[in-house]
Amino acid sequence: MKKLFINIKTLVQTLENTPNSPIKGQAMQQLAHINHAWLLIEGDRIADYGSMDTCPDCEGEIIDLAGKIVFPSWCDSHTHLVFATSREEEFVDRINGLSYTEIAAKGGGILNSAKKLGAMSEEDLFQHALQRLEEVKKFGTGAIEIKSGYGLSVEGELKMLRVIKRLKKVSHLLIKSTFLGAHALPLKYKDNRGAYIQLIIEEMLPQIESEDLADYIDVFCEKGFFSPKETDQIIQAGKDYGLKPKIHTNQFNCMGGIEVSVKNNAISVDHLEILNDEEIACLQNSHTICTLLPSAPFFLNDHYPPARKILDANLPVALATDFNPGSSPSANMPLAIALACIKMRMLPTEAINAATINGAFAMEIADQVGSITKGKLANLIISKPMKSIAYLPYAFGSNMIEQLMLRGKWV
Ligand code: NIG
Ligand code: FE
Repeated sequence: MKKLFINIKTLVQTLENTPNSPIKGQAMQQLAHINHAWLLIEGDRIADYGSMDTCPDCEGEIIDLAGKIVFPSWCDSHTHLVFATSREEEFVDRINGLSYTEIAAKGGGILNSAKKLGAMSEEDLFQHALQRLEEVKKFGTGAIEIKSGYGLSVEGELKMLRVIKRLKKVSHLLIKSTFLGAHALPLKYKDNRGAYIQLIIEEMLPQIESEDLADYIDVFCEKGFFSPKETDQIIQAGKDYGLKPKIHTNQFNCMGGIEVSVKNNAISVDHLEILNDEEIACLQNSHTICTLLPSAPFFLNDHYPPARKILDANLPVALATDFNPGSSPSANMPLAIALACIKMRMLPTEAINAATINGAFAMEIADQVGSITKGKLANLIISKPMKSIAYLPYAFGSNMIEQLMLRGKWV
């Protein structure tokens, strides 16, 4: 079945070919687009597109999108969408003056989520996650990475990863799975960190490989969580099982996480609220993507990553939500885009590149999604009538999404 969209006000991210690598630095200011455009969908794919003066005849359905902008659906490359329950009690603790790390140090935070997840059945966890994916779609997201990391035991981590594997099978979204067993140290290993790391390496990883449960490995490399040396050890073990690294680092401190990630050819380093000049120089000698998560410092009322410095250093930036119950209880990609513009001074064009094609690169799926390119999946956001592309982050907090199409179907 063919669908022809006509009179599109602006068709955004029209790339004739997928680039070989993410868009970086100054080039991120250019956002390919066609004004007054048409777009032809055949089955689940983008068949062709162009400007209205070249519009073909079509025997299929014709849909007039006058006044509306079409974007490729967002690629949210960093989330923790599988969790048991929300943590608004900690939100109140923070308003009362406790910091995120203080809450974590007294057994709250990630350990609190792990306790709740341990008590929930795999089926319930799956149903909750499935519901959250519905919300994710309302924000225009078509591809998403989901991490484990609230299990922190062999059973708990496998339970989470099996849920993600089931989500991959049933969802219209394209999903990538990341093993984050090293998200926090369980209390019972407080005096024996090595034993927990051994558990990850000797028991979790082999089982993950045998059930084909993950695409990537992640570690929370941060003071009070895992050191760069431990991160290195865990990443290398993950690589032995075919998992490429995507690393949580530099959220609160510079402590060597960038160096270790770059040394191990990480696909991405994520957070980067705190980043020094040597670390920027280190990233310049790598293919690692800088994934920025502005919803987290917004929610924690903390520093934002130095996006302008990162872009001036000619590095590639991706934007993601970090959707999780502790530091970013929001799957709202348009809000992450708006925060990138408002708080990190990214241009709307840069932020949209970061949320589409570069997010796709950060999940290694740029051959399938992230741009309007012939042969890619028909994953499209149809906006409400909008004057220009910049209106999307400008009208922060307004829902400018009218409809989402994934794999050629309205969802
Ligand atoms: O990316 N920082 C580590 N992990 C998550 C937060 C997890 C949580 O607080 O539950 C993050 O911010
Ligand atoms: Fe995260």
